Amino acid sequence: MITLQRCGNGVVLAFTDAEWDVGDVFEEEVALVRDAVPSRRAEFLTVRHCARQALHAIGHGRRAILPGSDRAPMWPDDVHGSLTHCHGMRAAAVVSADHARSVGLDAEPWEPIPGDILDLVASPEEQDRLGARFLSGVGGRLIFSAKEAAFKAMHTLGTTAMEPHELFVDLDAASIAVDLSSNGSFVVTHVDTGLRVCGVWDQRSDTLMTFVRVPAEPLPSRIAG
Ligand SMILES: CC(C)(COP(=O)(O)OP(=O)(O)OC[C@H]1O[C@@H](n2cnc3c(N)ncnc32)[C@H](O)[C@@H]1OP(=O)(O)O)[C@@H](O)C(=O)NCCC(=O)NCCS
Repeated sequence: MITLQRCGNGVVLAFTDAEWDVGDVFEEEVALVRDAVPSRRAEFLTVRHCARQALHAIGHGRRAILPGSDRAPMWPDDVHGSLTHCHGMRAAAVVSADHARSVGLDAEPWEPIPGDILDLVASPEEQDRLGARFLSGVGGRLIFSAKEAAFKAMHTLGTTAMEPHELFVDLDAASIAVDLSSNGSFVVTHVDTGLRVCGVWDQRSDTLMTFVRVPAEPLPSRIAG
């Protein structure tokens, strides 16, 4: 079953914990994953079924959601959206371009990331700021997920080909006490350009969800100071 949620600011989220829920498929989509392993077929088609439900909720008709040459999904001209999938979660977020310039959504298992990956994800500055205790728990996963959501949102704005250390994540104080709370907010800054995006995170069952929305009004191009 797909759940629809209106998240404010015109954003609609559609998600399911079903591995395979494809009431609604397009031949062009099926063709793209015909030779893929079953798990990839299931996530690719199910998340698009979610996306169509979300698009319907903001007034758009049925359509195939095909990947562009950069793999990013192609949305109707006046819509921004983002897709994500992991074990136990397939989710799509969409918003009319009147309400946002871009969105990015990511889902990850609610569990620590392996220690050897942590150095790739978190820069020395982030490790100093957030501390080993925080990063060795789900906190490290939160930093990874916030960067994935920010990457997707920034890609729509034209910032491409990013390495994780090019992004700096800052969290609100409650989020840093991640073992004590289950939602919060974050800011991700692209270190070279100063582009800054804001997001929220939430625990849903065994899944960590992060979501970035870039408002329709212009962004500051560089952080003061
Ligand atoms: C593209 C990327 C963000 C996908 O993230 P992921 O955690 O592997 O997978 P998710 O399930 O969350 O998202 C996959 C969906 O992202 C979307 N996607 C792929 N490339 C994208 C892009 N360039 N921009 C926006 N969305 C994109 C697709 O819809 C894809 O689903 P689909 O293949 O079924 O259509 C990731 O693989 C990547 O390349 N990241 C860039 C590296 C980086 O800087 N990461 C920072 C964190 S350390």
